Amino acid sequence: MEILRGGGVVGLPTETVYGLAGDAFNPMAVARIFEAKGRPLSDPLIVHLPEAGWLDRVALVTSGNQRKLVEQLAAAFWPGPLTLLLPKRPDLPDLVTAGSDRVAVRVTSHPLFQEVLHRLGSPLAAPSANRFGRISPTSARDVQIELGEKISLILDGGTCLHGMESTLVSLEGTPEKPVFSILRPGPITKDQLLQFGHVHVAERIVNAPGSLPGHYAPKKRLHILDSDMNQVPHGAKVGLLAFTTAFQEKHQEYAAIEVLSPSIDLREAAANFYGALRRLDLSNVDLIVAQSVPEEGLGIAIMDRLRRASYGSLHGTGHQISESIIP
Ligand code: TXA
Ligand code: MG
Repeated sequence: MEILRGGGVVGLPTETVYGLAGDAFNPMAVARIFEAKGRPLSDPLIVHLPEAGWLDRVALVTSGNQRKLVEQLAAAFWPGPLTLLLPKRPDLPDLVTAGSDRVAVRVTSHPLFQEVLHRLGSPLAAPSANRFGRISPTSARDVQIELGEKISLILDGGTCLHGMESTLVSLEGTPEKPVFSILRPGPITKDQLLQFGHVHVAERIVNAPGSLPGHYAPKKRLHILDSDMNQVPHGAKVGLLAFTTAFQEKHQEYAAIEVLSPSIDLREAAANFYGALRRLDLSNVDLIVAQSVPEEGLGIAIMDRLRRASYGSLHGTGHQISESIIP
C-alpha cells in the first residue's frame, strides 16, 4: 500500500489479465505506468473501480436516461470483464485518458484487486502488465518476465480466469436507442450486449485510438494457418498453437505443441491463450503457427488477438516471414 500511496506502481491480478496499477489521481504514478511499459502517452489507460458506486469519482454521467442505461449494464456485467467508455470527470488527470474527454472504466471482480482499491481508497489506472505491444500476462510469473526489472512488487493472485482482456465498449446512439460499439472484443460477447441495444462491432484490425493492428506480439514469427493445416514449412522448427487435439496425427511435424482446449471450449481456449503463446515464444522453435478458432462467442476475441499478434510477422513491422516459409 505504501508503494501505491507514494505514487509507485504494482503488478496486480484481475479476472482478465494482470494489470500494472497506479493511483489514477496521481499524475506521477500514471506517468510511471507509461514509462515501465514503454507505452506511448497517446494510448489511454483503463480506470479500475471496486464497485459501480465509485463511478462518479471518474465519470460524468449526467443525463437520467444515460445513467439508467449505465446502471443496467453495471447490474448485468459488473464486477466483470466489461469496460465502458464514458464522459470523463475534468479532475481526473488528462494523462490517464491521453487527453480524451472520455474515460474507460471497469469494475474488476478479482478479490485481491478489489481489496487493494478499497484499502487505497482511490481508483487505479491499469493497463495490461506487459511491455508495450507484447503478450499480455495471465500469471504473476508472466508479469515478472515482462516487467520484473521495472517494478518492485507483483501480487500473486493465481492464473487469470478469463485470460483475455475485457470487452471495450463505447456507448453511442441515444440512451433511448443505445448503440454499443465494441472497440475490442472480449469475454462479454456481442450476444450478451444485444439485450440492451444495438451492437456495432468495429472492423477487424482497425486503427481505433490505441487499438493498434500489431499488438500482443510474440518475439517469434507467428503465422495463422488455414483450416486444412497443410502448410507446415520444411526445415524450420515449428511450434503449433492448436485449438483442439484434432491435428494429432500430424504431431511429429512440430517441435512443440500447445493445445488451447482439449474439450473444444472457447472459454477454456481463451483462458489458456496468452500462456500457451508465451510458452511457445520462450521455447526453442523458429516459428509459431496457430490454428484458427471458430469466430463465435469468445472465438471472436481470440481471433482478434491472433491477427494482431501475427500482424508484425506479415507486414514487416516486427519479424518478417521470408517468402520460402509463407505457405
Ligand atoms: O481486461 C482489461 O481490460 C485489462 C485489465 C488489466 O483490466 N486492461 C487492459 O488495458 O487491457 P490495456 O491498457 O492493455 O488496454 C486498454 C485498451 C487500449 O487499447 C486503450 O487504447 C483503450 O483500451 N482505451 C483506454 N482508455 C481509452 C479511452 N479513453 N478512449 C479510447 N480507448 C481507450
Ligand atoms: Mg494491453
